[in-house]
Amino acid sequence: MTINIHQIKHFIGHFILAKRNGHGIHSPFAYQLCEEVFYNHNQFYDFKSLNSIRNGLLANQTKLSIEDFGAGSKTFKTNTRTIKDIASKGISSRKQSELLYKLLNFLKCKNVIELGTALGLNTLYLALANKKAQVISIEGSSELYNFAQQLSKKNNTGNIHFTNNVFDKALPETLTSLNELDFLYVDGNHTYEATLNYFHQALKKKHNNSVFIFDDIYWSKGMTKAWQEIKKHPSVRLSIDSFYFGMVFFKEELKEKVDLKLFLHY
Ligand SMILES: C[S@@+](CC[C@H](N)C(=O)[O-])C[C@H]1O[C@@H](n2cnc3c(N)ncnc32)[C@H](O)[C@@H]1O
Repeated sequence: MTINIHQIKHFIGHFILAKRNGHGIHSPFAYQLCEEVFYNHNQFYDFKSLNSIRNGLLANQTKLSIEDFGAGSKTFKTNTRTIKDIASKGISSRKQSELLYKLLNFLKCKNVIELGTALGLNTLYLALANKKAQVISIEGSSELYNFAQQLSKKNNTGNIHFTNNVFDKALPETLTSLNELDFLYVDGNHTYEATLNYFHQALKKKHNNSVFIFDDIYWSKGMTKAWQEIKKHPSVRLSIDSFYFGMVFFKEELKEKVDLKLFLHY
């Protein structure tokens, strides 16, 4: 990932202000999340095999041709990329994917949407975190979509549905097909307008125990502005900013709104 001035500025602020290891957190639910998810260093059974799939991708020299669907890439300058390059620069890191696994596993989320499949590695983490979940992963690039489908078949997950379309078309259709949404992970088209648009659409299917996660909230000024507005939405009762991820929870029993910054090692 390429780092820009906006990210450096916010990272310094985050480094100074963020809470560490659950210290000074008064909300019992947020504290429980720290214990069970964010600072839970247990190695889950699936991590070993997922890590070896990642290592395989990191050594794969196959080239894919990829269209640009949204905010573009600050890392890749051409449309032809090796799987190896995508795996090292264009997807969630091992620790980020493990965090999402632990969160989904702890909350026992069943209806899951991932916006931005890429190679489908993170999708595997989400699918394995709860075998009873149905993970719908949306990707605009047909070459990535095909690759992710093959990867999932090889690893026999059985609970992933891949959709090959742009988010603007696929998200409304997907949301209509669900009664409720437990887990939304937005990892593509990082613009202010698109991020808020996906948030507002998904809100219609949220419930008391849903969680929405936005990747790269300090990627650009627009993303940070979108994150500030998402946090402020009246239905958000708890927001957690871990620098790379912005996570929001909607539990109505949290009478006092809580905004937290957590320092996590990615
Ligand atoms: C950062 S990658 C996703 C990484 C993946 N979640 C992971 O961590 O393994 C973002 C993906 O979103 C796709 N994408 C971006 N904007 C899109 C759009 N508007 N519609 C469909 N796909 C889009 C890109 O093609 C890219 O593969």
